[in-house]
Amino acid sequence: MKKAILVGSTGVIGSKVKELLSAEYEVITVNRTSGDYQVDMADVNAVENMFKEIGAFDALITTSGYGKWGSIDEHSIQDFHDGLNSKLMGQVNMVMIGRKYANEGASFVVSTGILAQYPVEGGLSLGMINAGLEAFVRGAALEMKNMTINAVSPSFAKETMELMGMDSSTGVPAIEFAKLYKEAIESGKSGEIYHAS
Ligand SMILES: NC(=O)c1ccc[n+]([C@@H]2O[C@H](COP(=O)([O-])OP(=O)(O)OC[C@H]3O[C@@H](n4cnc5c(N)ncnc54)[C@H](OP(=O)(O)O)[C@@H]3O)[C@@H](O)[C@H]2O)c1
Repeated sequence: MKKAILVGSTGVIGSKVKELLSAEYEVITVNRTSGDYQVDMADVNAVENMFKEIGAFDALITTSGYGKWGSIDEHSIQDFHDGLNSKLMGQVNMVMIGRKYANEGASFVVSTGILAQYPVEGGLSLGMINAGLEAFVRGAALEMKNMTINAVSPSFAKETMELMGMDSSTGVPAIEFAKLYKEAIESGKSGEIYHAS
């Protein structure tokens, strides 16, 4: 059975990815506070130690990372750094360190988000992070010759809107995003940004 590492397995989207992959993959779960490994992806030493312990693997999916939601007036400079360290560099750390341990032909999938292309008020940190990460994916795909790297860019998950007490009628069920992560690891394509239609 192929081995897939899933960072963010307890989240709204990650829990659906776990459900979808579990029949066909040995899924190793990683979160900050639970799972097979408890690692903050912003902590480079902890990430390296985790990969050393896991050893070779076939797929790495990250459905994780923090970025501030708030208006420009509510953003401090530190808020930008916190999001860059977590959602952007955290996922970059996972790819950059993970590729040294991955099997030939391994697939990497990171999470960006619709704010990269469609800004809304309150979303400036996350939009900046998502756009940067998408540029990383396209650039890395050119050089990761024996592996693939892609991103899934979710819009608003129905379940997240419900958790936030919003009208969820325009939300996309998280399972639809989960299907894109599976497609991204199995398609053989690289440098793609997958969007839910
Ligand atoms: N849900 C949406 O509508 C939506 C829309 C656009 C983009 N996205 C993106 O999609 C991804 C998943 O979103 P989600 O809503 O499913 O997230 P979520 O429900 O908030 O769950 C986040 C998951 O990631 C883990 N995690 C967070 N920071 C981590 C870190 N630094 N190191 C390791 N694990 C960490 C959490 O575990 P712990 O609690 O144990 O840390 C949890 O399992 C995120 O990158 C998000 O920005 C989501």
